[in-house]
Amino acid sequence: MKDKIRFSSKLGLIAATVGSAVGLGNIWRFPAETQENGGAAFLLVYLVCVCVLGIPVMLAEFTVGRSARADAIHSFQKLTPGKPWWIVGAIGVVASFLILGFYMVVSGWTLEYLVASVDGSLFKAEAPCEAVDFGVKMQEYVQTDVRPILFTLSMLVLNAVVLWRGVTKGIERLSNILMPLLFLLLIVFCCVSLTLPEASEGLKYFFTPDFSKIDGPVIVNALGQAFFSLSLGLGILITYASYYPGTTSLGRTAVTVSMLDLAVAILMGMIIFPVVTTFGIGDGDSLRGGTLVFVTIPEVFTRMQCTRLWSSLFFLLISVAALTSTISLGQVSVAFLQDAFRWSRHKAITCLFLLLLPISVACSLSQGSWNDFKLMGNNIFDFLDNFATNCLLPLGAMLLCIYIGWVLPKSTLIDQLTNRGALRAPWAPAVVLAIKYLAAPLIFVILISNFL
Ligand code: PFF
Repeated sequence: MKDKIRFSSKLGLIAATVGSAVGLGNIWRFPAETQENGGAAFLLVYLVCVCVLGIPVMLAEFTVGRSARADAIHSFQKLTPGKPWWIVGAIGVVASFLILGFYMVVSGWTLEYLVASVDGSLFKAEAPCEAVDFGVKMQEYVQTDVRPILFTLSMLVLNAVVLWRGVTKGIERLSNILMPLLFLLLIVFCCVSLTLPEASEGLKYFFTPDFSKIDGPVIVNALGQAFFSLSLGLGILITYASYYPGTTSLGRTAVTVSMLDLAVAILMGMIIFPVVTTFGIGDGDSLRGGTLVFVTIPEVFTRMQCTRLWSSLFFLLISVAALTSTISLGQVSVAFLQDAFRWSRHKAITCLFLLLLPISVACSLSQGSWNDFKLMGNNIFDFLDNFATNCLLPLGAMLLCIYIGWVLPKSTLIDQLTNRGALRAPWAPAVVLAIKYLAAPLIFVILISNFL
């Protein structure tokens, strides 16, 4: 039965894959990385990384998934039976599960802020006539014990409902609705941002590169961001590609998905940097992760008309981006449990969420009363984040490149890129070269630099 699962339309499979790629990585990680790594210079290097390395590695994942038509681990077992290459898939399954543990908590916060924007409580000061302190609000919404757990649970349930309905009726249908909504919201915010008084200064910062800023760390950070943003190295794209019909052009899909993901990052830059120059924010930590989304941006909304409306739309945008990414992370484990134990989808989902529950609750509590409980110097949330995204993700991606470049026969890749000869793909040898001689060594550098 499972072998027959396919996305039902070209648009649906693109929407689902873009939905996986577009997430918190584009919305809060990209602007912060851009600012810390020299503005437009970073954007330029990032663009090159996506095109020259991101797309080839995405094609490598698509090839493994569609040729084996199995979950991330069994795909490697099917393609190279009796060899230990399944470990590459196992790294992806473990990494995506751990990432899901803390990503779900952040998704819960975005939902909490959405609700608080709609009911107006986010903008209510402690005492009348006092300004709202969003740092204090963040402590209340994120760093207490009960509230964030309830919203994390809501996000878990929402994910379970979508996955429960399956690949076509759940993931694909939801992505078909939410992805256009996400792009619409981004365009609305972009228009608003571009009308701000100092917008042109912000755009100049974002689009005029200072080439002297490009150095080793900028390249390593841009490549790390490209892999994070495109959801590479986690088995997600192997799993999704196993549902691609045989007639899907992998080359065209990889380019479309990467360009749409890039477009979201660029739109996000076009939203944030005019805000930075107009409202004079952007010093210290104000663009970093949680601070950007939960403190800086709400502060900006208070200086605009229709505060609650803009805030509600913004947190809806982030919640949508987070939801379509969490379902893709979850589907990696669901597909694995189904294949490994011959379980029904519903049993696999129940098991996944029972396993995930304590991890997400622990991550949520680690922002509150469990903050003092440390693993290797970090609280549970930061430990999982560092271990999965800085160690497992690049390790999985590097081993995948070695596997595609040196282990799997070249004909498997070419077969998949040409749909067994039905399409022309004169660029296929360049993909192999990029994977072998550029992606593999550069990801190795990222891995090492994460330990230094
Ligand atoms: N690509 C998505 C994002 O940018 O948020 C999902 C994701 C991928 C999350 C990789 C985390 C991760 F490590």
